[in-house]
Amino acid sequence: MPDQPSQFDGARVLADLHALRGIGAYKTGVHKPTFSEAHMRSLAWLAERLPEAGLAAEIDGIGNVLGTSAKSGPKLLAGSHLESQNYAGWLDGPLGVVYALEAARVLNPDPKVGGAVEVASWCDEEGHFGSFLGSRSYVGALTEADIDAARDRNSPRSMRDALREVGLAGRPRARAMRGRHIGYLEAHIEQGETLESSGLAIGVVTSIVGIWQYKISFEGEQNHAGTTRMAIRRDAGLALARFCVEIDDRFPGACGPRTVWTTGQITLDPGAPSIIPGHAEMLFQIRDADPAVIARLEDLLRSMAADVTAQGRCSVAVECIRTGAPALMDGAIQEAIETASADFAGGRSIRMPSGAGHDAQILATIMPAGMLFVPSIGGISHHWTENTADADIVTGARVFVETCRRLLAR
Ligand code: GLV
Ligand code: MN
Ligand code: MN
Repeated sequence: MPDQPSQFDGARVLADLHALRGIGAYKTGVHKPTFSEAHMRSLAWLAERLPEAGLAAEIDGIGNVLGTSAKSGPKLLAGSHLESQNYAGWLDGPLGVVYALEAARVLNPDPKVGGAVEVASWCDEEGHFGSFLGSRSYVGALTEADIDAARDRNSPRSMRDALREVGLAGRPRARAMRGRHIGYLEAHIEQGETLESSGLAIGVVTSIVGIWQYKISFEGEQNHAGTTRMAIRRDAGLALARFCVEIDDRFPGACGPRTVWTTGQITLDPGAPSIIPGHAEMLFQIRDADPAVIARLEDLLRSMAADVTAQGRCSVAVECIRTGAPALMDGAIQEAIETASADFAGGRSIRMPSGAGHDAQILATIMPAGMLFVPSIGGISHHWTENTADADIVTGARVFVETCRRLLAR
């Protein structure tokens, strides 16, 4: 590592992000499912760069990349993730990893800075195999049995097979050393339009929503689509479609001001034009920062299901398959982001909750955690057109580095 303090370099940040965009490129975005060849090359790319920041690099047994410093003084952990949703955007994840790398490159060699930024890329934030598997492993909330059970959502491949295929099976999983870090800082694109529509540069995240997910199954009767009269059909697909519409009619009367809900996947079984579906399934997600709101909506969902079942044509079962506690971001970290924004983003910042899930909510269970957002053009994300203006990327990086400097100096 050079002894000379290095200057913040916005062009270097952009170049790094474009280098990662070139790995697994898809249209203007990327396709990097967890443990794909492009994902693994991105992890190797990061591991090769960490020594530039005086960090010893390790890819652990769950696919986390960790850069560890031998410098004395306080350590701040920073990062995000490098896999993507399928055929999705280039900044969701890599932005936070590259900002962390830049902060480490600027601050770690500087003898005037006591302590160091340590860099992390958490595996599978995007949930190809589970939910937050990498960060949960790091905080000690992922068992071997959880890994045994994890399956690729797009193929029959198990997590164990995937770990074997990419050469990570048998490696130890890195665990957080209690007390090592003064906190965790993550940057991310906003993935919404709050900042852009208000002409702001920085979102200071106050809380991260909880995400609850349900598998809702409908049982009817599979039969011939030509000979079965409409009056006697037990069409599970039709029951599902009606249920979706009823959710949209009834949830507004029970939800909170920022609750969102999504039917992200529908399966009709057997799914053929001449067959009335006997079975149908939907994956349904609710997000809110207040667990009481979720509990109320889940009760409503179950009572709606019971009503449909009682009508006798199709039966409906609601199974909760994922719960996620919302997380509060640390007050002192919020202040540090805000004062860095005052100095390096003309004060164009706003405090706001995150409607997306992030690894910071997992790290927040063991240390103070904070997040900053930069604007997303048109509020688009989880789509390959996702983008952020270069000037906003550079401003965000500068604010991130200066926030790290302030946190290490406290
Ligand atoms: C994370 O990508 C989320 O879906 O919130
Ligand atoms: Mn995402
Ligand atoms: Mn993300």
